[in-house]
Amino acid sequence: MFKNFWYAIAFSDEITAAPSKHRLLAQDLVLWRTSKGEVRALSNTCIHRGGSLSQGTVNEDDDLVCPYHGWGFGGDGACTVIPANGRGKPISKRARVDAYPVEERHGWIWVFPGDIPEADRVPIPDLSFMDDPEYRSIRGEWTWDANYERVVENGTDQSHTPFVHGGVFGDPKAPPVEEFEIELGEWWARLTVEQRSPNKPAGKISQIFPKSRAYKEEDPPPVLVKTAFFFPSIVMIDLTIPKLGRQVIWDTNIPIDENTTLTKWVGMRNFYKTPWADRIAKKMILKVFAQDDVVVNEIRPELIPEELNGELHLRSDQMSLEFRRIKQKAVDLGYSVLGTSEGTKSSRTIIASPYRREEGLENAFILPATPEGTTTL
Ligand code: FES
Ligand SMILES: [Fe+2]
Repeated sequence: MFKNFWYAIAFSDEITAAPSKHRLLAQDLVLWRTSKGEVRALSNTCIHRGGSLSQGTVNEDDDLVCPYHGWGFGGDGACTVIPANGRGKPISKRARVDAYPVEERHGWIWVFPGDIPEADRVPIPDLSFMDDPEYRSIRGEWTWDANYERVVENGTDQSHTPFVHGGVFGDPKAPPVEEFEIELGEWWARLTVEQRSPNKPAGKISQIFPKSRAYKEEDPPPVLVKTAFFFPSIVMIDLTIPKLGRQVIWDTNIPIDENTTLTKWVGMRNFYKTPWADRIAKKMILKVFAQDDVVVNEIRPELIPEELNGELHLRSDQMSLEFRRIKQKAVDLGYSVLGTSEGTKSSRTIIASPYRREEGLENAFILPATPEGTTTL
């Protein structure tokens, strides 16, 4: 897993004035929305006696109040109130928790678990397509017992579809991957390919997905498929279905820890836009997740091998190769964090926040940050 990247960890409307707990990179964070509508993110562990800040309340200054002894923490993580000291007493600068940058974009809340300066951060990808009001959107979640890298690779893997999703999306009788095109960015890759659809109608799903009732002919025209990843955790699957329309699925694959991934997805379509079709579209998407889940949760090793030659790659695996090449850049930058939640209820990871680099705060943090590449248990 990697620190120093932006992660979309919640849908916008999930973050309200009530504090909520979110696990990311094996660390618990607390998020809340101020009266001005801004979202704040702190490390969830109070540095006084380890209280869980997400059980707290928000005071009239929009600060988060720990449920245990009532210390208040501002958006910068600095303690503003220590009730046991009485009013007007100076507060040690060591009374602070890590605070992380937050952005709200494309219907998601993005958090930056890391300490590198703004100028060095890989920007949030431009997903403005997600804001297009011409599309009808549905959304949901899926939790995997798998490392997020295996989940991201699966999302852009073309050659598994006839086998894992045969009959729904991908034709088991036509497994060869057609000629494809790959576009590469510094931190993303996108594949474009035509894919045969199965000929047999897939029940009710056929009303809305590739093998549509619109097709009477034996050989339906191929679906134009684009899949992309934006490192580390966003996946896009974009299907243009002849005579029907376009369906685009966006996943944020949140690394909860090394062994658990929480996917929050948005499905957009520009056909059958009435609400009655939502249920069918959702069922379809969840069926695809369920099919992948069976295979992905059993992949070994759980983490993708460190060496490129640790698995055998074919022409049709180029997206995985690009993911692994880009991942190596993050390793080389020293952004790796390892962490598992197994065997403990508590979080042991603390990602250093930008405040740790501020002058005068170098020694202000009680809880040491988890060093690069070390396991947290
Ligand atoms: S544990 Fe948070 S105020 Fe004491
Ligand atoms: Fe799949």
